Amino acid sequence: MEKILIVGNGGREDALGWHLSKSNEVSKVIRISQKENFNSVEELIIREKIGLTIIGSEGQLSSGIVDFLNSKGIHNVFGPTQKMALVESDKFYSYDLMRELSIPQARSIKCSTKFEVFDAVKKFEQPVLKYRGLAGGKGVKVYSSQKEAWSDLENFVKNFGTEILVAERLHGKEFSVFGIADGRNVLPFEAAFQDYKRLGDGDAGPNTGGMGSYGPVQFISKELIYEITDGIIAPVVRKTNYKGFIYAGMIMSNDGVKVIEFNSRLGDPETQPTVMLIKNNLYDSIKSSLEGNVQKSLVKFKKGSSCCVVLASRGYPENYEVGLPISGISEAEKIKGIKIFHAGTKFENNSWMTDGGRVLGVTSYSCDGISIARKLAYEAVLKINVPGGFHYRKDISLIV
Ligand code: AMP
Ligand code: GLY
Repeated sequence: MEKILIVGNGGREDALGWHLSKSNEVSKVIRISQKENFNSVEELIIREKIGLTIIGSEGQLSSGIVDFLNSKGIHNVFGPTQKMALVESDKFYSYDLMRELSIPQARSIKCSTKFEVFDAVKKFEQPVLKYRGLAGGKGVKVYSSQKEAWSDLENFVKNFGTEILVAERLHGKEFSVFGIADGRNVLPFEAAFQDYKRLGDGDAGPNTGGMGSYGPVQFISKELIYEITDGIIAPVVRKTNYKGFIYAGMIMSNDGVKVIEFNSRLGDPETQPTVMLIKNNLYDSIKSSLEGNVQKSLVKFKKGSSCCVVLASRGYPENYEVGLPISGISEAEKIKGIKIFHAGTKFENNSWMTDGGRVLGVTSYSCDGISIARKLAYEAVLKINVPGGFHYRKDISLIV
């Protein structure tokens, strides 16, 4: 039996921890904030005799936590090194890598000065501006016209500087594909997932960390997932000796599937429906990946669908109040097939309180498909409340 440490305390890590704790090989799962410094993570690993450490979020990965722990002689750490994590943390790097490997992506121009940015915007009818570094999902702006981009340019440059990738806007359905890589090979998750980044119904409003998700995405076949794994993800893994979870954000554009971005971790909130659907435990796949032998294991999915609706604090993603008492979580979990994952909560005076922008991921499973899974999730949503109510989308899994 082994103790697992998960670094990260969002909904994704709650879901992963819940899933891994069901493995017969796992005695305990400890989760800590992604804000912990490297030394205290090391101390905890030694003190608690942790057998496996999983890094959940891109911030710690791109700051080099895996390199740090390895340098201290701690090797059972699952996640890419700082250099491997560049695939997510540096959009110039991933653009160049995809070009080198002939991986289909949007036409883009790397810019370093204001003049270059302004010049590049003229080249695309519908420009997309992408800040080069990590920005928690907020560093990308997609415009419907040049005019719209022009009126926002100064503001974007003021916020993010001039290291910007200017891209053409692609149109089509987006979906996420995940895998586990061992430095050479990739084990695909055989279902694709979709997340809902915009705040409001009908994809209106600003981008958020994610307001919901569902899977499997009906329009993506297993064959296509294998094609994406072999033709797009595996070349990146081999070129960079990548280890850890890998996530390809894809779009089904008019001229075929293209990559929108690579991420060096699992998706949030896509992990929540993923763990409701996985048949065998990811623990075995993670361990075989650390041994450099990921192909020995499988990530199998159950028949059926899962839907996750995020309950957010009113005012998110801007200003919001925290510390409000949450009612109804246990009633909601009494509904068969429902699991509530915690993203921004704290337990105080015998009660759950809000403690973040995205608070809970109400997640369902139904063996009868997505419409039943959706119905269950929204039934559970109605049981949970805070004073003033939560904000949530009512169309998760309805629009694709
Ligand atoms: P990224 O951080 O690169 O994943 O971008 C965040 C979101 O912006 C994506 O999930 C897309 O919805 C959107 N996006 C990024 N690049 C493009 C593009 N070239 N065309 C259309 N939408 C895009
Ligand atoms: N679901 C989007 C992300 O995790 O980046």
